Amino acid sequence: MNKFFSVKDITDLNTLVKEAIALKKAPLQNQHLGKGKTIGLVFLNSSLRTRLSTQKAAQNLGLHTIILNANQEAWTWEFEDGAIMNGNTIEHVKDAANVLSQYCDIIGIRCFAGLTNKEEDVSEKVYSLFEKYAKVPLVSLESATLHPFQSLADCITIAEHLPINKKPKVVLSWAPHIKPIPHAVGNSFAQWMQKADYDFVITHPEGYELDPQFTGGVTIEYNQEKALENADFVYVKNWSSFKNYGKLIPVEEDWLLTNEKLKGSNNAKIMHCLPVRRNVEISDEVLDSENALVYQQANNRTYAAQIVLQKILENHE
Ligand code: CP
Repeated sequence: MNKFFSVKDITDLNTLVKEAIALKKAPLQNQHLGKGKTIGLVFLNSSLRTRLSTQKAAQNLGLHTIILNANQEAWTWEFEDGAIMNGNTIEHVKDAANVLSQYCDIIGIRCFAGLTNKEEDVSEKVYSLFEKYAKVPLVSLESATLHPFQSLADCITIAEHLPINKKPKVVLSWAPHIKPIPHAVGNSFAQWMQKADYDFVITHPEGYELDPQFTGGVTIEYNQEKALENADFVYVKNWSSFKNYGKLIPVEEDWLLTNEKLKGSNNAKIMHCLPVRRNVEISDEVLDSENALVYQQANNRTYAAQIVLQKILENHE
């Protein structure tokens, strides 16, 4: 492996998930791979899980870690090639990526969708520019459209809780939120669930369709109750409208996930990438129940990152 941006960068999901699960028993066995090497983690947006789990994964592999909170600690970056930089931007991403590549053997970058310019977000303008100028392997810590480490951790979590002798029914259920949220987690989960070949359904109010480039072929059910019938896993996530880009469209029905809503499910396990707005997206009773897997997902972020970084290090020994 030489980069990690999406599900397209992996070949065999089942094997990768099994290898990640195996790491839990002996997380420090490959410390030699990262010895004397450095990973740089660049954050243009906030993070708890991604920041700490990727650091932990790197340290398990013997890597040194450097964190750059680019929006708070670095010079303001310019993202237009050919820009006459006589305004507020101070350092071109071309120069930043080149310099970081001298300090780091692998770089991770988090760059969310701005939700104001659909074309820029869909084209992954920031991630693509950084990738163009970086001279070392690049991994996504969540980009404008995708969140692959999260999705791999989600696949690991589902694999650890599979029903016996049955292809699981997995439902991605849209949730309410107080402000517009990017589409990356939903898009990414849709991609990875298709790769996993589970019985996968997305439910959301009309007008909240995700980008069809990630959901093409997936069953969309606008009736949440119907979608949740016989579900083995319910993945709850908010996203803003894609069609009416980055906007909140008013929704009349109550999409908060409660125990009452789950009555028709197959005693479903509940998933969310976190952070979660309690009692807005999911009720306390559901989040605090035995069926909630949210902390297991967060724990698996370490092993998702570790198996990917391990593959990249092995490729550059
Ligand atoms: N799920 C996730 O990516 O969490 P953070 O935003 O805290 O990194």
